Amino acid sequence: MMHKVYNWQINRQMEYKYPESRPKKQVAWVFDTNKCIACQTCTLACKSAWTSGKGQEYMFWNNVETKPWGFYPLAWDVRILEKLGGQKWTGNKYLGKTIFEAAPFGEEALRWMPEEEDWSYPNIGEDEVNQQIPEKASFKLPHLNWMFYLQRICNHCTYPACLAACPRKSIYKRSDGIVLIDQKRCRGYQECVANCPYKKSMFRAYTGKSEKCISCYPAVEQGLQTQCVVNCIGKIRLFGFKSIWNNPREQNPIDYFVHIKKIALPLYPQFGLEPNVYYIPPVHVPDKFNRQLFGPAAKEAVELYKNAKEDKNLIGLLMLIGSTDRIIHSFKAQNEHCVGYDEKGNEIIRVPIKEPIVIRNEYDQNLDVHRLSVT
Ligand code: SF4
Ligand code: SF4
Ligand code: SF4
Ligand code: F3S
Repeated sequence: MMHKVYNWQINRQMEYKYPESRPKKQVAWVFDTNKCIACQTCTLACKSAWTSGKGQEYMFWNNVETKPWGFYPLAWDVRILEKLGGQKWTGNKYLGKTIFEAAPFGEEALRWMPEEEDWSYPNIGEDEVNQQIPEKASFKLPHLNWMFYLQRICNHCTYPACLAACPRKSIYKRSDGIVLIDQKRCRGYQECVANCPYKKSMFRAYTGKSEKCISCYPAVEQGLQTQCVVNCIGKIRLFGFKSIWNNPREQNPIDYFVHIKKIALPLYPQFGLEPNVYYIPPVHVPDKFNRQLFGPAAKEAVELYKNAKEDKNLIGLLMLIGSTDRIIHSFKAQNEHCVGYDEKGNEIIRVPIKEPIVIRNEYDQNLDVHRLSVT
């Protein structure tokens, strides 16, 4: 039996296997795609923490792919988009079908199962631009050629397809929104793998069970952000707890990005899972491409980002990203600083809103030397 549930990301009710049951606080991430350098430190941080065992060789719970040609597994999004067919939005309402509504009779969602080879090229398309650069081409603005880095982890969805599809009911969502596979119950049916459109549940042949991102819950339970966040070199990632969509708290960093400013957007909201990883879209990518990935709010989000320095709270909060390994529950931009607070209201971090710039002279008087590497 299907239930009617509300999905705020598509601005309408939709069908889902279980009744609506939202955790009061939901783990969530904000990734600023504009700052990522594709160093894959996040990928390795996750891998060395959680998936270095037998049968986990191919598992990247975190991966960073270069769009438009990077995919892990191969063509993961293109295949499900093609199956889904036309995706029509009117304003901010999605009129097409979600993967649950488009499911063939007897199945929980539109599904496809990756083959072994699909998992064989984690770096395919890395650093490749959208189209071939013509001979003798020079850089011209606006760019005709583009690419950007898309950071991918499990979305700890509000309506997880993995959870809906498991015949053993081995997958559950905790009261903090973390979605986990119970390793004792799992019997390796792999419906979670076939039904997750983001392909973030992965089968481990060595144990005969599936595994996925666990949101680093041992760290989260101690008030710490996740490994892929705290190790990020580009400081593009923020982890925290999101409030329920219709009751955002303005001082909550995640709520501010997602609900107050609407600058951080879900990936493929049209799939209907209400994913909880939110992206600040890339500013240099064609509107149409951003719209397909992040929904109709993408264009406004890009404009907002370009003008972020006009907004003290927004720029202050952007500066807080990557500044601490603790979970920031509230923030406040005051005078020259932005301050992050823990759950009890204690200050845990303070950053300057305007980053100090030090200009080094070519001639260093103190040492009486000329520095050749100074531009
Ligand atoms: Fe499940 Fe996939 Fe959603 Fe993760 S992203 S909760 S694996 S449906
Ligand atoms: Fe890996 Fe933890 Fe990041 Fe999940 S939250 S991708 S388990 S590092
Ligand atoms: Fe991008 Fe940060 Fe991962 Fe490096 S560590 S690839 S900057 S998200
Ligand atoms: Fe269920 Fe996936 Fe295991 S479908 S039984 S959790 S492999």
